[in-house]
Amino acid sequence: MFTPAFTSAAMLDRKNLMPVVNPDKAGNPLHHPAPKAPRIFADTATRSEIEPLFKAGIINGLTTNPSLLKKAGAKSWDHAKEIMKDLCNLLRPFPVSLELTELDEEKMVRQADELAVLGDNSVIKVPIGGYRAINSAADPFTGLKVIRRLWEKGIKVNTTLIFNSTQAFWAANAGATYVSPFLGRLADYAYKHDTPERKPGNSLYWVEDHKNAKGDQIMHNTEYVASGGAVKDAGARLIFEIATVFANYQIKTEILAASFRNQVQLTECLLAGADILTVPASVLATVADHPLSDEGMKAFVEDSKAFGK
Ligand code: G3P
Repeated sequence: MFTPAFTSAAMLDRKNLMPVVNPDKAGNPLHHPAPKAPRIFADTATRSEIEPLFKAGIINGLTTNPSLLKKAGAKSWDHAKEIMKDLCNLLRPFPVSLELTELDEEKMVRQADELAVLGDNSVIKVPIGGYRAINSAADPFTGLKVIRRLWEKGIKVNTTLIFNSTQAFWAANAGATYVSPFLGRLADYAYKHDTPERKPGNSLYWVEDHKNAKGDQIMHNTEYVASGGAVKDAGARLIFEIATVFANYQIKTEILAASFRNQVQLTECLLAGADILTVPASVLATVADHPLSDEGMKAFVEDSKAFGK
């Protein structure tokens, strides 16, 4: 289980700069007890999964991506846009992240304009990197250039496919409103490749198969993330590291922790200082459950029969 070393004064100061998530209600003498709680988004493009959660006030935002749209049944780009528009309408005024599918800077900016008009609550999801994995001649700074151009146009960006704090810092510096570290995928990767744990230098700390122009190895993750604890907690350590970097510089870009596999990872992200959790419906469905709650409830119901209830 991830255990943070400390919550710094800088983290608390940054929290004070962040928006109120649960405002007080006019006429209600009770102040909301958790005004700066992290926001909870759903990570899905399937309306039937979101609608009840949204109506119950459990989620106040949504993140989608091409894989989730495919899963929701999108058969063409026009169909995908119809689904995205419907989701924006449903969630208004809360943010809905819509991901770019183009890979060239100019086309990406045009597609961002196309998606931005689907709803005044739309946020454009821009991959931080991976462009050269698709086309080796691509500009590695494509994502950062697009983020900056969208910031200049007043369009909110959620930077996706974040796996280290360097990527998160550069996205924030380019003007991203949100960064989405994929803690579940990082934990999956670490678990798959690093069991039993290895020391920095031959594991995630350096990536042996990625070379820069000089043929040197490039940094994949810091030692803190790669080997600061159990492999399965690598994702939570990543969130903590980003939260620390953002606190050090009072960066208001929101840390939108993504790619959850279970409830434990939700808790770890709360400990680590995430601003938003985007949670798959399957994991959201479990958040109110505990075997001892079941047992306790059964006992209360049984005992209340003594007074006719
Ligand atoms: O929001 C990002 C998320 O959809 C990625 O999740 O489960 O595909 O790793 P996953």
